[in-house]
Amino acid sequence: MKIFITGAAGFIGFSLSQELLKKKHTIYAIDNLDEYYSVKLKKKRITILKKFKNFKFKKIDISQKKNLQKYLKKKKFDMIFHFAAQAGVRYSIIRPDKYIKSNLKGFKNLLFCLKNKKFSKMFYASSSSVYGDTKVFPIKENYKLNPKNLYAKTKIKNEKDARNFESIYKKKIIGLRFFTVYGEWGRPDMLILKMLSCMKKNRVFYLNNSGDHYRDFTYIKDVIKILVKLVHNKHFDYNIYNICSSKPIFVKSVVRKFKKITNYNLIENINRNKLDVYKTYGDNNRVKKLIKVNKFTNFDKALVRTIKWYKKIGYKFF
Ligand SMILES: NC(=O)c1ccc[n+]([C@@H]2O[C@H](COP(=O)([O-])OP(=O)(O)OC[C@H]3O[C@@H](n4cnc5c(N)ncnc54)[C@H](O)[C@@H]3O)[C@@H](O)[C@H]2O)c1
Repeated sequence: MKIFITGAAGFIGFSLSQELLKKKHTIYAIDNLDEYYSVKLKKKRITILKKFKNFKFKKIDISQKKNLQKYLKKKKFDMIFHFAAQAGVRYSIIRPDKYIKSNLKGFKNLLFCLKNKKFSKMFYASSSSVYGDTKVFPIKENYKLNPKNLYAKTKIKNEKDARNFESIYKKKIIGLRFFTVYGEWGRPDMLILKMLSCMKKNRVFYLNNSGDHYRDFTYIKDVIKILVKLVHNKHFDYNIYNICSSKPIFVKSVVRKFKKITNYNLIENINRNKLDVYKTYGDNNRVKKLIKVNKFTNFDKALVRTIKWYKKIGYKFF
């Protein structure tokens, strides 16, 4: 199959591209190699993907409609995975403009450029942050949305735009609400990779809210397994799916495990950031029913694997 992937230099886009290339699909990939985090890491991911002859990469910014339109004009593909976005919750205070540019304008541009194209389905990345602080767990897809920050608001707007587009242009568009994805080739701005990076630089890691919160950590290899199954799925009952392990972990306990494995100790507690939610814990029955995935990797095992990967390879790019 021919698959168009945006944000292919990013964590999830790279990991999915790699798996689909191994399965002999052709990948048309774009990314603007944004400087939010290590461009060296993004370039390395692209170099790895370029080893596959059916990987075609172009540096394109989705907020630039004309370039995107020109690129897509003659391209033919069976489906789309849209991951390109400004990720991160706290950064939305520092650079709100980037969320407007990539997540809102970029998303609309992409839909505009796709409206006359033939494809079977499009998946786009939404986020668990659309739920905000909730009291009832696990969170189901139909629960009320309660965004606490600009990032979450842009994702909700994407979901609305996608629904409108779907009803006007009769194309299948499915939103995937990811919950704290972690693992090999992960994002340097997220807990585990951030701690590893501080450890390497012998710097202090500032632990938000003293780690007194929960996250539904979801291992990248489990996410990719789900996404690959979605590629082949023909029937979708819903247009939104939670992508999570549905096993929330107390962040303080993650830090404890990390310290035990690495002996890293330069951790200082700081106050809670108002943009952060206290607990993420998604219900994944909807996606499990759809594609019959039941097994999720044990967190301790995946944490060891991630640390091993960082010590062997990852540290060079952070
Ligand atoms: N990783 C997670 O835990 C998580 C959780 C919830 C939602 N998400 C969403 O999933 C998607 C992928 O996340 P990720 O963790 O791989 O993030 P990432 O930052 O590693 O990947 C995003 C990629 O998009 C690219 N990009 C940004 N703006 C662009 C633009 N204007 N044009 C072209 N490319 C652009 C970046 O350079 C980056 O390589 C994002 O939409 C993110 O919001 C991720």
